[in-house]
Formats: sequence, C-alpha cells, structure tokens
Amino acid sequence: MIREIRLYGDPVLREECARVEQVDDEIRRLIEDLQETMYEADGIGLAAPQVGVATRVFVYDIRDDDIPPGALINPEIVDSEGVVKTEEGCLSIPGLAEIVERHETIMVRGLDADGEPVEFRAEGLLSRCIQHESDHLDGVLFLDRVSPLKRKMLVRKWQKRD
Ligand code: NI
Repeated sequence: MIREIRLYGDPVLREECARVEQVDDEIRRLIEDLQETMYEADGIGLAAPQVGVATRVFVYDIRDDDIPPGALINPEIVDSEGVVKTEEGCLSIPGLAEIVERHETIMVRGLDADGEPVEFRAEGLLSRCIQHESDHLDGVLFLDRVSPLKRKMLVRKWQKRD
C-alpha cells in the first residue's frame, strides 16, 4: 500500500524513532509499504518516519545491478572511513538539494527484512543512502548537515515553493 510521504515541517520527521523489538507482520507490512512508496516516488531510499511511523526501519534501492535492494531494521553504523561531499536530496523536502559531507565508506549492522542479522560494508551511493536514511531514524535531515547560512537559504526556498 502506498502511504503518504510526510513533508518537512511534519513533527514525525524530528522524532527519535523506537527500536524494533520483534519483526512481526506489522513490520513486514511496513517494509512492503515503504518499498512501494519509494518506487512510486522514484526514490532510492525511504525511512519509516517519512510515512509517519517513528520506528527504526528503512528501505533502499540504488538501482545498481550489482547491489540488490534491501531493508534495514535497527541499523547501526559501526565503522566508517574517509569523507565525501556530494549533492543530496530528500523525498520529504522535494525540490531542494545541497552538497552534504558524509563518510566515504561505512560498515553497517542491523536486521534484514526477515529479521536476520546482517553486517556489510557500503561505499559510494549506497553508503550515502544508508547514512541519509539512518539520520532519519534520529530525526535528522540533510538540511541539518549544511552550513547555517545555506540552511537558511534552503528553508526560505522551501517556504516559497508552490
Ligand atoms: Ni530523506
């Protein structure tokens, strides 16, 4: 089921999301809905708070034949290396994009859609996507990671949108 994507200004996007204690039907349904909603919006990642659910779950698909799409439950970035600056956007703040500094490579740990423990290394777009979606679970948006001046300009642009 496609769910409504919550937009910047919605308080759920600022919540510290709760850990998943049990991967049950409700969580499986949430993951399916996140995937459907992400594809409908043509995004590469979507976190549960973006559909109004303050739970530590996100899905991703960077549309790379070598990197299968997936879901992460209770993700933790356990190691990181390097720094990269690339342009980022967010389905909850459509129309805005800005250069954001991120770790170049990360090691991420969590549970997959079946509730099985996974741990893997990510680089490039996948690394950036996982860092962006993990931020959502802590109520952090990419706007929070740019300079105060740029943030002010971006928020003004957002407020003036049609
Ligand atoms: Ni986002």
